[in-house]
Amino acid sequence: MGPNPRVTAAPLVDAWQRARARRMRPLQVPGHKNRFAEGGVVLGSDLLGDLIRDDLPLQGGADDNGYTGGYLAQAEALWAASVGGDHARFLVGGSSQGNITSLVAAGGPERRVAVDRTSHRSALAGLVISGSDPVWVFPEIHPEFGLPLGVRPESLARLAGDVVAVFVTSPTYVGTISDVRGLAEQCDADDRTLIVDQAWGAHLGFMPGRGAIDQGADIVTTSVHKALMGYSQTAVVTVRGDRIDATRLDRAVDLTATTSPSATLMASIDATRAVMDRNGEDALASAIESTSRMRAALRRVPGLVVIDEGELGQACDPLKLTLWLPRTGVNGVELAHLLWEQGNGVEVADVDSIVMTISLLDEPAFCEETTAMLVGLVERLRGEPRAPAPAALWQVVPEVVMTPRAAYFAPRRRIKLADAVGEVSAEQFCPYPPGVPLLAPGERITAEVVRDIAEAGRIGRVAYCSDPTLETVEVVDA
Ligand SMILES: Cc1ncc(COP(=O)(O)O)c(C=O)c1O
Repeated sequence: MGPNPRVTAAPLVDAWQRARARRMRPLQVPGHKNRFAEGGVVLGSDLLGDLIRDDLPLQGGADDNGYTGGYLAQAEALWAASVGGDHARFLVGGSSQGNITSLVAAGGPERRVAVDRTSHRSALAGLVISGSDPVWVFPEIHPEFGLPLGVRPESLARLAGDVVAVFVTSPTYVGTISDVRGLAEQCDADDRTLIVDQAWGAHLGFMPGRGAIDQGADIVTTSVHKALMGYSQTAVVTVRGDRIDATRLDRAVDLTATTSPSATLMASIDATRAVMDRNGEDALASAIESTSRMRAALRRVPGLVVIDEGELGQACDPLKLTLWLPRTGVNGVELAHLLWEQGNGVEVADVDSIVMTISLLDEPAFCEETTAMLVGLVERLRGEPRAPAPAALWQVVPEVVMTPRAAYFAPRRRIKLADAVGEVSAEQFCPYPPGVPLLAPGERITAEVVRDIAEAGRIGRVAYCSDPTLETVEVVDA
């Protein structure tokens, strides 16, 4: 198959390469002055050399101080065109920055925004920073697997008339995909902005009709470093339509962005887009084929459930490999530990399930070896089938006492978590990964959540709380 007829130019990559080829002796920052790229004996090259060699700023590097080349803007316009959007901004603060930006753009002090309670913690940051007043909505949860299936369009019909925007995550961490088209139609009918956190689905944007922008969302954030090949931290926020115009998005991005962007990081977004325009169709077809072969082989393992479209009867990320384990008796946390020890880290694991990401760079042979290894490990750890113990975080239904912003800025005092039942939390407790808060600022602390936090701490890291031992909590000092 020939190259994709879409544009394959990469203006920011070209500018990056031209700058590298020039002899640059800058009389301006960065302080490393590009010397590590030149090799030879340089102060600190044993420690810094490999790390800083490819660093190049946009300002006074790939472009001049006035950005007169306009390479970043050109690259952003090409991204927007490739995924069907009207305007896109490259981010170096990950999808976290994109989610904050989206909520600032669409929400605002005391404006009500419907937010999926199983959102990544960056949505909470967006609520604190924007001052939006969240109305939590909840995804449907699979009755047996205990995994989120996405927020259904029907659940938006019950929202009050003053809700100005809806924020959902699709794909979810476990790979389930929402009916974004249905959500967009409902939001259009109600004159609301639909924001989609598509952090895990950058590849979907390059599959016609599958990305959230193509399906009618107004603002979509996607991590280029997750499903695609960008540098860690890279993401893009894209808008389509006139509900959120380019100026409004720019204002929100500029509120949260560095003024010293890395041309290297951003050029990796441009390069990824150009590669997808050129080879994406074939590469995606091959990775999807490998993943479905893995799924078919793993489904043959007695008791092993592969979470995909066939199993759930709804859209799922074609590159996520999510296994549900209770009928094999295998503990997902133990399985993930063994995998990590041999160099095969997984996205997330709990007792019942394990989630892995297959990418365009995973070759068929690697996928086959991985399948055989997974089958071997499941047999090694196999036990008696057991009742599921679904992770609590997908199913939290909190009592909200005040907004996350009000709780965040309220006077606080520290008490023992075990004694905090009935108090209002001033902070969040987030098992990471997946980064969905068990307890958010402004929520009433219950005996169940105290128990769930302790349990999450036993099997993994609970992050973004002030006391990593989980012994104490900051509560709102009423
Ligand atoms: C659903 C979701 N949204 C947003 C993010 C944040 O992405 P990033 O790490 O690129 O900031 C994550 C991170 O894992 C996530 O799972």
